[in-house]
Amino acid sequence: MNILAIETSCDDTSAAVIVNGEVQSNVIATQKVHEQYGGVVPEMASRAHIQNIVPVVAVALNNAQLSIEEVEAVAFTQSPGLIGSLLVGAGFAKAFAQARKLPLIAVHHMQAHVLAHFIAEPKPSFPFLCLTVSGGHTQLVLCKSHLDMELIGESIDDAAGEAYDKTAKMLGLPYPGGPLIDKYAAEGNPHRFAFPISSLPNYQFTFSGLKTSVLYFLQKQKKENPDFVAENLNDICASVQHTIIEILLLKLKKAAKDLGVQHIGIAGGVSANSGLRKAVLALGEKNGWQVYIPDFQYCTDNAAMIAITAHYKQLAGQYADLGTTPSARATWHHE
Ligand code: KG4
Ligand code: ZN
Repeated sequence: MNILAIETSCDDTSAAVIVNGEVQSNVIATQKVHEQYGGVVPEMASRAHIQNIVPVVAVALNNAQLSIEEVEAVAFTQSPGLIGSLLVGAGFAKAFAQARKLPLIAVHHMQAHVLAHFIAEPKPSFPFLCLTVSGGHTQLVLCKSHLDMELIGESIDDAAGEAYDKTAKMLGLPYPGGPLIDKYAAEGNPHRFAFPISSLPNYQFTFSGLKTSVLYFLQKQKKENPDFVAENLNDICASVQHTIIEILLLKLKKAAKDLGVQHIGIAGGVSANSGLRKAVLALGEKNGWQVYIPDFQYCTDNAAMIAITAHYKQLAGQYADLGTTPSARATWHHE
């Protein structure tokens, strides 16, 4: 089965081709227009998706050496995401499917982040516990099979990626700030400045308190020394990053222990973070976990993860009809 997959939930326009469960191409057009604004401007994102979608799909098909006539099903991200962005991908996928009379597969973006682990070897065994950390979500998901996932905890406010991006904005860095903080943190002292580590019951996360404490900390320091940020950038980034990782790992450790799961993974944009990757690997070594971390290209938003999810949904006969509409918010559903 040859599936064309489309991902347009936020600010990356992506298309991928998967053939019998093997990803053949994965093309991502990143939108630069948002850099100067410190975050994604939804209306600009939708417009850029409209401009990018046809050429991105053309390159994805070309890279996979597949003609339009050889596509047998079309998959798209249905939710969650920015509604205007989702509508572009959904509209394109439906038009393509309608024109060629092909089956349509609707994909949940957060489920796809988890299933990015199944694009390439080594693939996790079940039960598998995944910490998904992206710009919009922070979730702990227990996977019993490819399509049977249980959300066991998530952030009650900001996502981990948001904590990175908002810190970066306060430091005067462009969007997305995560990769830049990662880079400066590598040169800094993570114990130089202390920020509070939140503690909520069960497997819930919170990052809004950290955001506020970084804001007040910077305001106070800048009053005393206007050059504080420039002079201490590496140490500030390392200290904030250290706090974010501590918050994440506290709950990951607790969940792995409580549930008795040994196969542990991280997914989503923030799983590209070198500090987090190192810390999870170290924790795995200490606790006897088998740790899985996707390739960098499958951490941040990409259509290959939509394609692999579509592959499993197609095997299970889970198709969507042309009336399926995208949704900005989506409650986690059991398949
Ligand atoms: O999964 P993703 O591409 O999009 C969403 O579904 O939200 O995640 C984007 C987030 C952004 O907040 C970005 O700053 C963060 O992932 N990110 C990173 C790194 N690379 C991307 N955060 C920390 N370190 C990185 N290396
Ligand atoms: Zn994402």
